[in-house]
Amino acid sequence: MTNNNFYVTTPIYYVNDRPHIGHAYTSVACDVLARYKRLCGYNVKFLTGTDEHGQKVEKSAASAAVAPQALADANSQHFRELTGLMDLSNDDFIRTTEPRHVAAAQALWKKMADNGHIYLGSYSGWYSVRDEAYYQESELVAGPKGNKIAPTGAEVEWVEEPSYFFKLSAFEGPLLAHYEQNSGFIGPDTRRNEIISFVKGGLKDLSISRTTFSWGIPVPGDEKHVMYVWLDALTNYLSALGFPDTSKPDYKAFWPADLHMVGKDIIRFHTVYWPAFLMAAQLPLPKRVFAHGWWTIEGEKMSKSLGNAIAPQALVEEFGLDQTRWFMMREVPFGNDGNFSREGMINRINSELANNIGNLAQRTLSMVAKNCDGKVPGKVAMNAQDEAALDKLYKSVKSYMESIDSYKFNQALDVVVAFASEANAYIDVQAPWKLKKEDPKRMEAVLFVLLEYIRVIAILLQPVMPKSSSKILDQLCITPEGRGFSALGYSARLSPGAVLLAPEPVFPRFMEKAA
Ligand code: MSP
Repeated sequence: MTNNNFYVTTPIYYVNDRPHIGHAYTSVACDVLARYKRLCGYNVKFLTGTDEHGQKVEKSAASAAVAPQALADANSQHFRELTGLMDLSNDDFIRTTEPRHVAAAQALWKKMADNGHIYLGSYSGWYSVRDEAYYQESELVAGPKGNKIAPTGAEVEWVEEPSYFFKLSAFEGPLLAHYEQNSGFIGPDTRRNEIISFVKGGLKDLSISRTTFSWGIPVPGDEKHVMYVWLDALTNYLSALGFPDTSKPDYKAFWPADLHMVGKDIIRFHTVYWPAFLMAAQLPLPKRVFAHGWWTIEGEKMSKSLGNAIAPQALVEEFGLDQTRWFMMREVPFGNDGNFSREGMINRINSELANNIGNLAQRTLSMVAKNCDGKVPGKVAMNAQDEAALDKLYKSVKSYMESIDSYKFNQALDVVVAFASEANAYIDVQAPWKLKKEDPKRMEAVLFVLLEYIRVIAILLQPVMPKSSSKILDQLCITPEGRGFSALGYSARLSPGAVLLAPEPVFPRFMEKAA
């Protein structure tokens, strides 16, 4: 049965660190989808939050000589501020130290245990605190200091401790069958293939509790153990819906989730462990997990040791909020890795926003202000070419929507950029400034066509650039109902005679400050 609800989640962010552009990227992509779906008429729940337990956070707190809870409180607040900074439209912000989450994680554990999928044993093997992940000896390579290194580059340490195990090995067949029957479960396809071959390679039972530190959710009935942080963290997607009370309206409306958006580094946790935990608890599985790529900075891996992580705040302050959001969604095909460079950012801002879209809006709205008394030209006689251009404009909205629905954000924005280029070319050919004297009626028709281009472009820009697009729509005096995606065609055309606001530039050129 299809419904009108859409539930999208970001990963929850570790509180050992401050937000950087990698975190902002995942969140902005989810925000674009959430805003887009709302504009299409969906009832959306968009969740983000912080992952606060585990050895990594405990260690960071110890080295900062603060209590783990104090570190979590301070850094969680930075991620909460990120939602305001990046203009995220999240409906909730979950913290794994909240009672609602602790209750949900323990309830999930109990369900898995009651169904016979958990047993007590002891773990001896390799663990990476940085990745919060277990590794097989065969996956490791020798490091420079005689140490061992995981495929992610993280150091591992030898761990030996009593531990509860989850019977992951029993889920190899069911997981493969699920991937087979639900080809859209993992995206993009390259990740899906990777995961299928990983699972085909054999799954070992998974250690899901730790006893050598205490910063975690106690295992129900055996409080010497804390839950493995990934089991704890993954449950957040359920806790925010009111689980374990499955009669809660949010749970009923939004589970199973439509999309868990994740970075490529954490796809295994979301497409192997998480569905297996849910199968063990006899709960429905999320519909889709999609992994995006990673950013490098000026060609280099972002890392603490290089000290090159970029704070989202710095980008927003220097380049502007919507400009930063535009760059993130525009620069790289979603799913691929990408590189952040100042030059790339400035190019995008100046060529696409200032020179193309901004220029189109500014010159058209100024001409309308000067020559049409600031009103939408009335009763215009458009020629066949004008009608054909508008018809194409309304119809090609479909390809924008198809692209966003398949997370090809940069392609969707191609469509918008192409509309703006087309409209700018139309201005140059039609030269309305000449028509003013020669054929004022024709000038009005040309300006009407251009206003329609701007209206459609501004509606389409809303998911990615909510503030700038609404400035343009405000100038066109478009009502809230006129901003939804159902208002993209003929039926919602601007009404002749409508009074427009005084034009104001929306996308300034970026100029380097003099040294
Ligand atoms: N806490 C876990 C997720 C638990 S979800 C149940 C975690 N947190 S994280 O803070 O380390 O990473 C969160 C997200 O940021 C991941 O999706 C990760 O891929 C993303 N990024 C971290 N660095 C990144 C880049 N350099 N580039 C793009 N995204 C990156 O993992």
